[in-house]
Amino acid sequence: MPVRYELHLAPDLGAATFRGSCAIELDVRAATAVLTCNAVELEIDGAWVEVDGRRVGVRAVELDEEAERAAFTLAEELAPGSATLHAEFRGVLNDKLRGFYRSTFTDAEGVEQVIATTQFEATDARRAFPCWDEPAHKAVFAITLEVDRDLFAVSNAAQLTRIPSPEHLGRDVVRFADTMVMSTYLVAFVVGPLEATDPVDVDGTPLRVVYPRGKGHLTGYALEVGAFCLRHFADYYGIAYPGDKLDLVAVPDFAFGAMENLGCVTFREVLLLVDPATTTQSELLNVTDVVNHELAHMWFGDLVTMKWWNGIWLNEAFATFMEMHATDAFRPEWERWVTFGLARSAALDTDALSSTRPVEYPVVSPADAEGMFDILTYEKGAGVVRMLEQYLGEEEFRDGIRAYLAANAHGTTETTDLWDAIEEATDQPVRRIMDSWIFQGGFPLVTVDLVGDGTTLRLAQRRFGYAGDLGEGEPVGVEPEGEASWAVPLIFSQRSTTDGVVTFEKVLLDRPSVDIDLVEPVEWVLVNTEGTGFYRVRYAPDLFAALVAHAQSDLSPIERYGLVDDTWAQVLSGETTAHDFLALAEAFVEETDLSVWQRLVAGLGVIDRLVEDEARDALRERVRALLRPAHDRLGPVPVAEESDRERALRGVLFEALGVLGRDELVLERAHALLDDPTADPALAAASVNVVAARGDEADFDRFVARMKAASTPQEEQRYLGALADFPDPELMRRVLAMSITDEVRTQNAPLLLRRALTNRDHGELAWFFVTDEWDTVNSRFPSNSIARLLEGIRSLSKPSVAPEVFVFFEDHEVPQGDKILAQHLERLEVNVALRDRESQALTDELIRHRYDH
Ligand code: BES
Ligand code: ZN
Repeated sequence: MPVRYELHLAPDLGAATFRGSCAIELDVRAATAVLTCNAVELEIDGAWVEVDGRRVGVRAVELDEEAERAAFTLAEELAPGSATLHAEFRGVLNDKLRGFYRSTFTDAEGVEQVIATTQFEATDARRAFPCWDEPAHKAVFAITLEVDRDLFAVSNAAQLTRIPSPEHLGRDVVRFADTMVMSTYLVAFVVGPLEATDPVDVDGTPLRVVYPRGKGHLTGYALEVGAFCLRHFADYYGIAYPGDKLDLVAVPDFAFGAMENLGCVTFREVLLLVDPATTTQSELLNVTDVVNHELAHMWFGDLVTMKWWNGIWLNEAFATFMEMHATDAFRPEWERWVTFGLARSAALDTDALSSTRPVEYPVVSPADAEGMFDILTYEKGAGVVRMLEQYLGEEEFRDGIRAYLAANAHGTTETTDLWDAIEEATDQPVRRIMDSWIFQGGFPLVTVDLVGDGTTLRLAQRRFGYAGDLGEGEPVGVEPEGEASWAVPLIFSQRSTTDGVVTFEKVLLDRPSVDIDLVEPVEWVLVNTEGTGFYRVRYAPDLFAALVAHAQSDLSPIERYGLVDDTWAQVLSGETTAHDFLALAEAFVEETDLSVWQRLVAGLGVIDRLVEDEARDALRERVRALLRPAHDRLGPVPVAEESDRERALRGVLFEALGVLGRDELVLERAHALLDDPTADPALAAASVNVVAARGDEADFDRFVARMKAASTPQEEQRYLGALADFPDPELMRRVLAMSITDEVRTQNAPLLLRRALTNRDHGELAWFFVTDEWDTVNSRFPSNSIARLLEGIRSLSKPSVAPEVFVFFEDHEVPQGDKILAQHLERLEVNVALRDRESQALTDELIRHRYDH
């Protein structure tokens, strides 16, 4: 068992190599002559063991690259007790954005600068130093870095000393304090031409932002969020921040969004460095969420850690839940839990497939752990945690969390430990409820009916799935149809016909169906009050009509969102037509909420892919007629008294009018807005997409130039992403070619290709590019990004390409994301079925409707 690591690392940024040495204090539990730990792509130059001040030689070091292990065979057997393993090693600063790797950026003078940085989760600490690279093997880390004198160095703990290297001229030796005991995947060190803000004192914790030189003006917002959120969590968890300082580090090349290394959290630049004056609310929200997410991990994940990687989902799900909790406290007017509706929908969408998976499953290999990094872990996981919290009550739930963290601080846990702690605090069957959501894939459709004389509410559940779902094999772990499969913590509300009062009730639906006697006759019943449940609802027709009629007057935004979203899901499941969805959307012409509009617009966007020519013109007319009034109610430019969400809504409507409605005035204005440096950020960002959707070569060239000259990461991303939306096949070819050159960072290219695959008219070109360049794509891009890139294949439903996609993956694998790929493919089948079912029917309806009106 490792107890303490003394690590010395000396990166050579110019040569892209590093030297290192370690002294790992071990607690030898049983006599052994072989010490086996993890190591990969390291050259081990020498090793010995120290026992009671005596040196024991190492006879042989065997590296097993396949198993990612090093075995040290000792000259003599070690007795139980303390021993220290010393090793000297070398490695390469790779460009795969994992382990100890190289990141670069061009500074203000146009000079390329190099950073050496780390990303260890899940299993890549072993690429930087020999270690027992499993989360349960917590230890103390004492880190020393030897770096060029002009470089900045940061690690998990506070810097103790920085002195000139006695051995190497021009180099400094930087020593950091001992960390608390923690898992190897949380170790981090970053070296380069970086700077740090002055520390902000947050109740004794110095908080800084660390950034590539020259970007200091983009750090203020992250400091503000970080300071707020540190206090928020210390208070919520009832435990002080566990580290001795906290740095938020912006890294130009980063495979993930961010990483919760204790005290040294690393981020993609676009998720940390921001200028609030030129940023949209949604871009600011991203920064806020990500900072909150990673800081939530400082306790949940870093202080208390999963025993093994099957628990990675709870780590991420809970941080995602807490991220929203903190964002909601930081900016209540952003309605974070309403916005969560969109992410929850995306999770429900994947979880409706027969190729879904249980949230928790056994993990053996690193690829299994990597495969957990998906929407089900983050968004379904957070969704079921939120459902539980709202059912139990926020304070009761929080008491359970506090008890769990206090009991397990500095230790490791299993999922059930959390349920048991909450069960203890609330006296509710938490474990039974949660097991039904965690260990089986899928979720229920709750059907709602009034029976008897109209005062008995009948709720029933069955698994929800999509039509035309050709997925082979049985849904994972799901009971035969008709059986009660979930313990649904359900909240419903009703409005009394007698006095008009709205009341709500909680019930645990843990049988196939329950009948509930209502005290009074009701005007309407709403199931899934405040939309916190992870399920879909289907009402008897009269009940549904009553809800739609009262939607604007009686329902909250997230409840209206639910009506729209559940209806859309029924379009995919074949129970409702696309044209009926359009008619429902038209009943929402008075709608005022951002998220509801985003959901409506997303549905309209899919519908727009199903029709051509005259029917498409008819659709555009209807889209304009629907969106124009809402847009005009807000007015063309921001007004002082409006909320951030209203400002964001203006951008959403403006963009949809331009892209889906082909509104000529919007297009004209978008061109003007792009050249107006004082334009409102929401309109400016929307204009980028509006212009791209109709853009020509001159626009494309201008976008490339603006991307390169961008003054913030957000602006750079807006222009880069929009390159994939142009309607001209030649321009699509250009962006595809660019995606595998140094013009596009490997952290961004997969996202760009994902967007290119969803290009309405030229997704096919992107598909053939990805398959032609399959080897390049796999060797060049970070491993975790391949499955994300492939999300774009869901839209390739045209008969000219869909069959090609299925055939390709018969003999091409994505081992680190096989489950995710299977879901993308099955979701594509759902879209193919949708197109088959709807294309002609919707065309006919649209044209008939056009002549009728
Ligand atoms: N710990 C994760 C990143 C991670 C997960 C790395 C699994 C390796 C394997 C981090 O906390 C995280 O969740 N990052 C997210 C951003 C977050 C705000 C949703 C990411 O990178 O997308
Ligand atoms: Zn996380």
